[in-house]
Amino acid sequence: MAENILMQKIISLCKRRGFVFPGSEIYGGLANTWDFGPLGVELVNNIKQLWWKRFVKDREDVVGISSAILMNPKVWQASGHLKGFSDPLVECKKCHSRLRADHLKENFNGKCPQCGSDNFTEERQFNLMFKTFIGPVEDETATVYLRPETAQGMFVNFKNIQDTTRLKLPFGIAQIGKAFRNEITPGNFIFRVLEFEQMEIEYFIEEGDWQKCFDQWQSEMEKWLLDIGIKKENFVVREHQKEELSHYSKRTIDFEYKYPFGQKELYGLAYRGNYDLTAHQQDLDGYVPHVIEPTFGVERTILALLCDAYSEDGDRVFLKLKPSLAPYKVAVFPLLANKPELVAKAREVFEMLKTDFTCAWDPRGNIGKRYYSQDEIGTSFCLTIDFDTLQDAAVTVRDRDTAKQERIKITDLKTALKEKLA
Ligand code: GAP
Repeated sequence: MAENILMQKIISLCKRRGFVFPGSEIYGGLANTWDFGPLGVELVNNIKQLWWKRFVKDREDVVGISSAILMNPKVWQASGHLKGFSDPLVECKKCHSRLRADHLKENFNGKCPQCGSDNFTEERQFNLMFKTFIGPVEDETATVYLRPETAQGMFVNFKNIQDTTRLKLPFGIAQIGKAFRNEITPGNFIFRVLEFEQMEIEYFIEEGDWQKCFDQWQSEMEKWLLDIGIKKENFVVREHQKEELSHYSKRTIDFEYKYPFGQKELYGLAYRGNYDLTAHQQDLDGYVPHVIEPTFGVERTILALLCDAYSEDGDRVFLKLKPSLAPYKVAVFPLLANKPELVAKAREVFEMLKTDFTCAWDPRGNIGKRYYSQDEIGTSFCLTIDFDTLQDAAVTVRDRDTAKQERIKITDLKTALKEKLA
């Protein structure tokens, strides 16, 4: 399938089924903002919960925090973001499009993608932090920034966390939260947006351990990607060249995903040395720990998952999402909506399952269409209650990926579904 066609199909499915809507749509939208709808927010929450369980709850060496988005501007001065968190900006002298100089070279062969001109202004650095003001006076002293990464909330709380948890090196602090960037050239659906969520870990170590820890986190990140269902052949690891390293980084690798619009960054893993803790004068009994930072973007995870999961079989479209991520695990249907005895039995099954599994209830319409409709949103199993159910107390269970059907006794359903969904 042509790559832009695949992207269009995914965007249209997301809108049609309530995964992702354009932001502020009824007012003509706001470019590069998107809203997660009822199914999108379930997928997002499933990802965040899985991540939190795996990297915080299941580990003794990592604790979580949730820090404020607005921070004292001195944080951004000390961290180097006021000076160094910028991208090179050029403007086309002919059509006045503004572009990132590095993207211009990489993606457009030095030619303006709008008008084809190769006549640009000199490069200048453009700071990506959004500014706002505290209080009624909009002056320099009231200026604050929307955080461009969650990381600094963890660095400035280093001592608070040390004092309250008494953790010993190596240990990590994790956070999931919003970050904001005034990107010069956003786009590609939810790939590069102005506000997004990060799931980040700052893992504090002795300097001598950095290579070992870097390798360990690289393999943790690879395992995470495979476990959420991203195919191995669809991502690659790329080492940052010296000149592209962030201002704080000694070594960075990107996990790049093969999106329909090209191979681009999904996650990052950086060795930040002890740059940040030194900047904020945070130490551990006189020693300033070094840090390894695995960072995961939520929107890019969702996009990679949707691209990986999107499947077609003739005119059947289905999202091959892992059951742990699917917005609904099970859908329950009475075969016919106008037969009260079928509806009552189906309601009974639905009520029995709904606390253990996220269930959809869909009583109306042609049964084949209802199957297709659930396939398209990734529901793992569809259960149909038909006239035989009233005799044999069994239901038809249909598998999303194979479309195969089997009869299972209602009394065995919970156990059977738990096994299938594991
Ligand atoms: N604390 C390190 C840090 O912020 P980054 O590589 O600049 O590193 C981390 O960002 C992750 O955040 C990226 O790997 C990506 O998943 C996500 N991300 C960054 N900018 C984004 C944007 N404009 N839109 C969506 N996701 C973004």
